Amino acid sequence: MDLSTFEPFLERLSRTRLAPWRAALAEAVERRLGPGAHGDLPRWEAAVAALPELSAGRVMLDQSRVGVLSKTPLDAATEARLRDTLMALHPWRKGPFCIHGVHIDTEWRSDLKWDRLADAIAPLAGRLVLDVGCGNGYHGWRMLGAGAELVLGIDPTLLFVVQFQAINRYLAADNLSVLPLGIEDLPEGLTGLDSVFSMGVLYHRRLPIDHLADLFRLLRPGGELVLETLVLDASAQQVLVPRGRYASMRNVWFIPSVDALVVWLERCGFNGVEVIDVKRTSTEEQRGTDWMRFQSLPDHLDPDDPSRTLEGHPAPTRALLIANRP
Ligand SMILES: C[S@@+](CC[C@H](N)C(=O)[O-])C[C@H]1O[C@@H](n2cnc3c(N)ncnc32)[C@H](O)[C@@H]1O
Repeated sequence: MDLSTFEPFLERLSRTRLAPWRAALAEAVERRLGPGAHGDLPRWEAAVAALPELSAGRVMLDQSRVGVLSKTPLDAATEARLRDTLMALHPWRKGPFCIHGVHIDTEWRSDLKWDRLADAIAPLAGRLVLDVGCGNGYHGWRMLGAGAELVLGIDPTLLFVVQFQAINRYLAADNLSVLPLGIEDLPEGLTGLDSVFSMGVLYHRRLPIDHLADLFRLLRPGGELVLETLVLDASAQQVLVPRGRYASMRNVWFIPSVDALVVWLERCGFNGVEVIDVKRTSTEEQRGTDWMRFQSLPDHLDPDDPSRTLEGHPAPTRALLIANRP
């Protein structure tokens, strides 16, 4: 993986009003992909290179299993090769995908999150979108399916970047990419996005209010933030800062009540803040599968009281909010 991997997308981006940031984005990618980027990268890239050539039939971006069907059914040997090569990119966390009949049954039913937000957000047709912490890009495909003009996904976890490339070997989009960047790597002054998504990221940030302020600056005036994060089921302004782990995760810093989150957004300058969903994460939505064989949500809950995490905290509840940059 080098800058050339991302050139078709950057070329497409340079035909939008984000063009002034193309060069700085390219430099940020090159910095991230410097020597020793990740020890497993050569193995993952070999897997992408070993994916069989297949001629695409119908592309599916607007249904839960994102993917592509074959014009004719695959023979058993080709299907096995496709499955095994995709499996070499384990663990698959976000999905599901269906690639030429191979169902990648991911840890997360990310389609359920999409279903909760799809009708509540500003229509994406023709919009320039940034998805911060987009994982392997599952929701980006759904955004394209909803008509977005261009989706810039960023995620610093290289395995997820490579998973995107594996999927894109078959879907061949140039108006969606997952760049190997954290939000802190974005070029200074980048702005002008119509919609910015930050889902599953805020609770990992040590400075959550700075994160919201960064998202604000990335939007054009009138643009929309779609925010999803863990929340505390409490009516007043309260914030949980776990002493140690939260649901076995080491890097969870702030879990605000919805009331507190609304105030954080307003203090950062957002208006029109709307809570569109609050839901306890179910073990149907997040669970271990053949494609993610490590521990998952059921293992992180108290077996005697699944309303609590193993550490005794309230079990994961997530809220989805939208807000506007005036
Ligand atoms: C819980 S996942 C959420 C994925 C996806 N947005 C979703 O809602 O399903 C959090 C993602 O944030 C990414 N991440 C971690 N640090 C980040 C940073 N500094 N900037 C952007 N993304 C980051 C992780 O690699 C991970 O893929």
